[in-house]
Amino acid sequence: MSDMIDQKSRLGAAARGFVAKPGRMLIDGQWVESVSGESITVFDPATGLEIKRVPAGTAADIDRAVSAARRAFEGSWSALRPVERERLLLKLADLVEANAEELAELETLDNGKILMMARYGDLRLAIDSLRYMAGWATKIEGTTISPSFAYVPDARFASQTLREPVGVVGQIIPWNFPLVMAVWKIAPALAAGCTVVLKPAEDTPLTALRLGELICEAGFPDGAVNIVTGDAGPGAALVDHPGVDKIAFTGSTEVGQIIQRRAADTMKRLSLELGGKSPVVILKDADVGQAVQGAAQAIFFNHGQVCTAGSRLFVERPLYDAVIEGLAEVANGFVVGSGFDQASQMGPLISSRQRDRVQSYLESGQREGGRLVAGGTAIDGPGYFFRPAVFADARPDMTIYREEIFGPVLAATPFDDLDSAVAMANDSSYGLGASVWTRDLLLANRVVRALKAGSVWINCHNLLDPAVPFGGYKMSGYGKELGHSAIDLYTESKAVTMALG
Ligand code: NAI
Ligand code: MG
Repeated sequence: MSDMIDQKSRLGAAARGFVAKPGRMLIDGQWVESVSGESITVFDPATGLEIKRVPAGTAADIDRAVSAARRAFEGSWSALRPVERERLLLKLADLVEANAEELAELETLDNGKILMMARYGDLRLAIDSLRYMAGWATKIEGTTISPSFAYVPDARFASQTLREPVGVVGQIIPWNFPLVMAVWKIAPALAAGCTVVLKPAEDTPLTALRLGELICEAGFPDGAVNIVTGDAGPGAALVDHPGVDKIAFTGSTEVGQIIQRRAADTMKRLSLELGGKSPVVILKDADVGQAVQGAAQAIFFNHGQVCTAGSRLFVERPLYDAVIEGLAEVANGFVVGSGFDQASQMGPLISSRQRDRVQSYLESGQREGGRLVAGGTAIDGPGYFFRPAVFADARPDMTIYREEIFGPVLAATPFDDLDSAVAMANDSSYGLGASVWTRDLLLANRVVRALKAGSVWINCHNLLDPAVPFGGYKMSGYGKELGHSAIDLYTESKAVTMALG
């Protein structure tokens, strides 16, 4: 466990320099304070100590940012050719790569995640996503159509579709993968020709702000990307602003619903990537060792703070006891500690609020009759640490089975036939991720087709790549980020018809 040392002392010189600077946000190419002069405190979840303060953005700041984004959209940004947008995004990818160690350290300090994960997971994915999306800037295409217009005699026509950028985009992101979320939002929007106002999570604004510096260094025109820090307030102002054409949001289903209601007033385009309660289904012929490791990774990766976390586990009866035993062993073996410690395998949760929330789910699981086979012991200390927990014999009426916990708490249930496993897996208001573990690929493919989820994995879980579309079914939201679909999210299709005489 980490003692109360200020972890800023564990940063390299570059990250230390960034943290020491006064916190400013990016509007119209300038680093500014909030018009209110107010700021919010950013905490280190491993110690509870203040890292630094950043501006508390207000509706007035959002208004300035949206105006700047509009000017850029109608001027400097749209004046660029696609290949120039591509080059700027590639330049940004190079800069992120050149500053990867600093960004990884900032991510670990701000979010608490294991430094190795930040370095080889988050940074790799952010850099690859920038390069992947950069390529789309020069590959956006419409179609040509030979229409009939049979009711117009003696005339011929030709039709085509144009793909046009949707305009000024407001993007609101959560704290679990702060840099990756920022990149997944801004990169496709910029590639498509949109301009952006980004609102990072109040818990983790640091890497988005450092990314903002690199955006300036890369030479993006002023106002193409604006970053307004703060809590829900500036987020809501962005949703309400009539000058914003589209909102892209990742976060809780609860806030997604609020956004969908409020966006109706201005008929904003929306893409919503929301919560999940993703099932992991292990069939009786699966390799037990592989399935245990896979199920553990599915729920415990990033401390369970993953929208696709495999938080419900269904195991076919013959393997049930062995899998539960294996998972308890993995969970009990986790070294929980500061993300900067080499030995640590799981860092703190994001905030005291989140730890209290996860703790209350643990208590409800016990109260409602779950069999706790691992975890549940408190971890003292100033940081927000939590021991990974496994509940066996979870039932569909339990709160831990139904609600998104967003922490390292697994609810496991046995099943006797595949149909009931699929029915239980689909018995959720969510539909984000799911995985099936088996050596029988025919069976796997049947299960894949029966599951109602936006991402389904076979013998793996939580794997995301910039080339593979990602997004939910049901109350997990709509709109597919990543892949070609990401460009569809940030473009409108215009139909053009010409009379040929
Ligand atoms: P949240 O959904 O409240 O926050 C996400 C982002 O939305 C933040 O940037 C926040 O400032 C902003 N926001 C909050 N209220 C808003 C509003 N009314 N209008 C516009 N923007 C608003 O998530 P929070 O509070 O950090 O976590 C609460 C729970 O939500 C977690 O325990 C977890 O269950 C879930 N969650 C799910 C995520 C996912 O990816 N599925 C990500 C983060 C949280
Ligand atoms: Mg919230």
